[in-house]
Amino acid sequence: DDQSRPVILREDAPGSVERACHALDAGELVALPTETVYGLAADAANGEAVAAIFAAKGRPRFNPLIAHVDGWEMADRLAMFDPLSASLASAFWPGALTLVLPRRDDAPIHDLVTAGQPTIAIRQPRGFAAKVIAALGRPLAAPSANRSGRISGTDAATVADDLGASLALVIDGGAPPVGVESTIVKVEDGAITILRPGGVTADELANFGEVRRAGDGAAIEAPGMLKSHYAPGAAMRLDIDEVRDGEALLAFGPDRVPGAEHAVAVENLSDVGDLRQAAARLFAAMRVLDGAGAATIAVEPIPETGLGEAIRDRLARAAAPRQEDSRA
Ligand code: TXA
Ligand code: MG
Repeated sequence: DDQSRPVILREDAPGSVERACHALDAGELVALPTETVYGLAADAANGEAVAAIFAAKGRPRFNPLIAHVDGWEMADRLAMFDPLSASLASAFWPGALTLVLPRRDDAPIHDLVTAGQPTIAIRQPRGFAAKVIAALGRPLAAPSANRSGRISGTDAATVADDLGASLALVIDGGAPPVGVESTIVKVEDGAITILRPGGVTADELANFGEVRRAGDGAAIEAPGMLKSHYAPGAAMRLDIDEVRDGEALLAFGPDRVPGAEHAVAVENLSDVGDLRQAAARLFAAMRVLDGAGAATIAVEPIPETGLGEAIRDRLARAAAPRQEDSRA
């Protein structure tokens, strides 16, 4: 008898959409698969439900949430779109792009979603989450389904273990195809500023306008930019050229660095060096190596191109010095 374990339901089980909707409508939290990572979802209009997200994650109150929509009409009720943001939405939605926009005063969401800010982050996801939003007819507030500072959830069992007691229901949709969170952008002065690299690459965005990156010195606009994040228990050593005694190895590609044969555990993100495959496997591989008990996870070099930017960003955060109270 374990009352802290939520019901886990496969996404293709009969009535799964209806059950998720029913729980959300009743103000409960439901973990849902999206194409990026699992989301810890609540009805965005229900302040108590949104507050329960912060409590479940142990997330600092100032960290705002993404409002997930089922399409243009719902998005338009939440925010004011400039022309460039509108063309990004029509090009990439549904998909792994989150737009930060000026919110409408009468947006049908609770103020806790935006943490009282004048802007709102919006994304139209793919996958099971999209069906639930359409059936509910209201936006869902959903951060990644993990406790604050932990690796984002990419499988139902891990999500249930991490957040179990707070959840009414976990929908199991298997491993999300993208595997890293969405790219967060904000259009400023006619340019596309990347606040967080993610599943949509800078190259893809560059087809629509000048791409800038939020500088290190910039004010923390997306608290996901806080340096220490996605922290495994083990220390991380990046861009290694050899494996030292006692280390676990996060490998990439067909060739191994010297000393790899002595690693206490090895996970290869992609045998063939494919960055999409690597992104999709990243969090699960980090979790496996963290569980292997090594004090340090050594990480082979990952290219900086394409999805490599998002992968390297997550690894750098995982490697950053830990600041307990600033994780998001
Ligand atoms: O792929 C994803 O984006 C996943 C799935 C579930 O959609 N969601 C996700 O949410 O990664 P979360 O809460 O873990 O990260 C969202 C980031 C946070 O760092 C938050 O600070 C930032 O978005 N954010 C939210 N609203 C914002 C706003 N108005 N301005 C700037 N950043 C914002
Ligand atoms: Mg997160």
